[in-house]
Amino acid sequence: MNALLFERQVWFATGPLVIEEEAPETMEDFIYHRPVLVTEAVELLAPKPGALVVDATLGGGGHTEAILRSGADVLALDQDPDAIAYATDRLADFGGRVTLRQANFREATRVLDELGVAQIGGALLDLGVSSRQLENAQRGFSVMRGGPLDMRMDPRRELTAATVVNTYSEEELTRIFREYGEEPAARRIASHLVKWRKSSPFTETMQLAKAVEKIVWRHGRRHPATQVFQALRMEVNDELGALEEGLRALTGRLESGARIAVITFHSLEDRIVKNFFRELSREWLDEPNWPEPKRNPAFALRLITPKPIDPSEIEQRLNPRSRSAKLRVAEKL
Ligand SMILES: C[S@@+](CC[C@H](N)C(=O)[O-])C[C@H]1O[C@@H](n2cnc3c(N)ncnc32)[C@H](O)[C@@H]1O
Repeated sequence: MNALLFERQVWFATGPLVIEEEAPETMEDFIYHRPVLVTEAVELLAPKPGALVVDATLGGGGHTEAILRSGADVLALDQDPDAIAYATDRLADFGGRVTLRQANFREATRVLDELGVAQIGGALLDLGVSSRQLENAQRGFSVMRGGPLDMRMDPRRELTAATVVNTYSEEELTRIFREYGEEPAARRIASHLVKWRKSSPFTETMQLAKAVEKIVWRHGRRHPATQVFQALRMEVNDELGALEEGLRALTGRLESGARIAVITFHSLEDRIVKNFFRELSREWLDEPNWPEPKRNPAFALRLITPKPIDPSEIEQRLNPRSRSAKLRVAEKL
């Protein structure tokens, strides 16, 4: 059966681009993770045939497969060994064109050095968690599934969500709930958790979800602990710290004309990417107290997407998780 195709036109700095989207045929396609903005990301990465692209967030391998099909080779990283195991099977037909490594993308420089790769022909980061991670109760990411309060994407790391909830000070918890979770009741939640953990430390997801339910009322369809869970996940995996380091490491290795594409799902992540691209794409710096503008020593990028690309309406309808996604792309000078 032929897949249904939808067409839409998107404007980029380089001109209009007509994008064809394939409607899914079976739910089998989504078992591990349904990738977001695949067509847009690969079109804008525009890797040269035979170039080596780093997919820094392998997940279920959807983006990696699309990049391989475009003709480039891929070095794919993921800090979660489960993603590596799954994608090893899925991508077996591509043989030596794809290399998989369990690693945090903040260590991209070390991995590339180990493999003897000096420069790369593109890089992709598709941030956050995969559906598989969310849906596996034993990983502890989901507010709806009973399991240990864990949330580590890399099980070799020590810090778990339980350690954060049971040992961080009220001030620290307030900060992460407010900053990472954008939770208006951050202080109230932190103060109750600190009180309650004295008699019974938090070890299970449902225990924490129910505790937060007692503190804040449910508004809308989201569980009241959703933002607290998101904040804990970002803290446990140091997601923003890893993003800053990963962007520098990968951009530093791009060859001239190669592109970096980043898909974010959180306003703080998007701000980091926006500021990073802006900082490196400004040729001249000026301050009111300088006699004249100075050349920016970090100048290294050209913006391909002055404004972030959102998923199409069709994609948002087919995959509600894509609604908060934003894609930004830049090119090495
Ligand atoms: C949204 S999923 C990626 C989905 C993937 N693009 C696909 O097509 O299936 C994000 C993945 O990135 C991984 N990840 C998140 N932060 C990471 C980091 N700092 N280093 C390496 N992998 C990371 C997660 O373990 C997860 O598997």
